[in-house]
Amino acid sequence: MSLTRRQTLAILGGGAIVAAGTGAGAVITRQPGGARAPWAAAGGYDEPRMRALSHAILAPNPHNRQPWLVDLGTPGEVTLYADTQRLLPHTDPHARQIVVGLGCFLETLRVAAAEDGHDVTFDLFPEGGNPDRLDARPVARCTFAPGGTAEPDLFAAIPHRRSTKEPYDTARPVPSDALAALTAAARHNQAAATADPDRVAALRDLTADAFSVEFATDRTYRESVDLFRIGAAEVNANPDGIDLSGPLFETLRLTRLFTRDKALDRDGMSYARGLDMVRANAMTGMAYVWLTTPGNTRAEQIAAGRDWMRVNLVATALGLAVQPMSQALQEFPEMADHYARAHAALAPRGGTVQMLGRLGYGPRVPVSPRWPVEAKVIG
Ligand SMILES: Cc1cc2nc3c(=O)[nH]c(=O)nc-3n(C[C@H](O)[C@H](O)[C@H](O)COP(=O)(O)O)c2cc1C
Repeated sequence: MSLTRRQTLAILGGGAIVAAGTGAGAVITRQPGGARAPWAAAGGYDEPRMRALSHAILAPNPHNRQPWLVDLGTPGEVTLYADTQRLLPHTDPHARQIVVGLGCFLETLRVAAAEDGHDVTFDLFPEGGNPDRLDARPVARCTFAPGGTAEPDLFAAIPHRRSTKEPYDTARPVPSDALAALTAAARHNQAAATADPDRVAALRDLTADAFSVEFATDRTYRESVDLFRIGAAEVNANPDGIDLSGPLFETLRLTRLFTRDKALDRDGMSYARGLDMVRANAMTGMAYVWLTTPGNTRAEQIAAGRDWMRVNLVATALGLAVQPMSQALQEFPEMADHYARAHAALAPRGGTVQMLGRLGYGPRVPVSPRWPVEAKVIG
């Protein structure tokens, strides 16, 4: 039997809520308000680069590591660096996904700046790059100049976008014109989408099975568990990683029914229920969208991220939920079979599938945590 996130939490937490007693009410209902504040702060800056950056930090990025650092030392420029302390060496051994996330950041920066009447041009990896690992060299030099073409619908969607990691409504198909709008949003790469029932069934299985591989592989599973932030206090202290806040997680934390150690215990309930949950969610995908690049250079990864941001914003504007499903695209050896299956299904004529997303209609979820933009300015 597969369980949804809510069912899982209800089972894990049902007894715990009683055990915690009524006095715990104020604790278990607290929300990580501080960690969500950067969403409300976006746009509230006078300096044009800071105003655009306050939107850019809301971009999606792998495991919410927010691996961006910016130097504002040169007037009219933003120099973007990858924070090499915030990589995912096990699930993302070549930092491909991290760079895709930096592409999402750059496109958000550009859309936000254009709304203000600024054109932003990018000089990517101006001092060169390494295809295997990220280093201290800049990822992009971004030059602001008067101009730019505003895209008000995309801009308006920025604060409403979420990665919706919940079950989708399996009674509600995704219309073909919505899929056409998503693929039309990509500017730099080939985007494709499907709601064909056979392909959807195959992609549900593939993405669910790929989760099982990531869970079954000690070091990749541990990489996620290490990033669990359990309860509002942990989320506020480290507003990144995997946000496990909300009343049930507060209760589980208080009663110590759910801890990082318990999640790592493969014979325990938390591990089994966690895997059930992500697999069950995967099995509710109603359509899929993916982006393919001919090669797999750093510049192509950035371009894929820029397009993914556009696809994600168009989906948001259309009321569609999106969850990136990257497991089968990961390059660690244990995933090789699933990686090959994904590429055979999605890029049969070659190329690298950079992003794959599950689509459907899902519940409205809270925004995810962010470090304030000021924490990301290094000069
Ligand atoms: C390159 C990339 C890969 C991602 N892969 C996954 C994934 O495999 N599963 C998932 O649930 N979310 C994935 N995400 C979404 C992030 O987890 C999400 O963007 C982050 O937690 C911040 O949340 P938000 O998008 O709601 O702001 C990915 C995002 C990016 C940019």
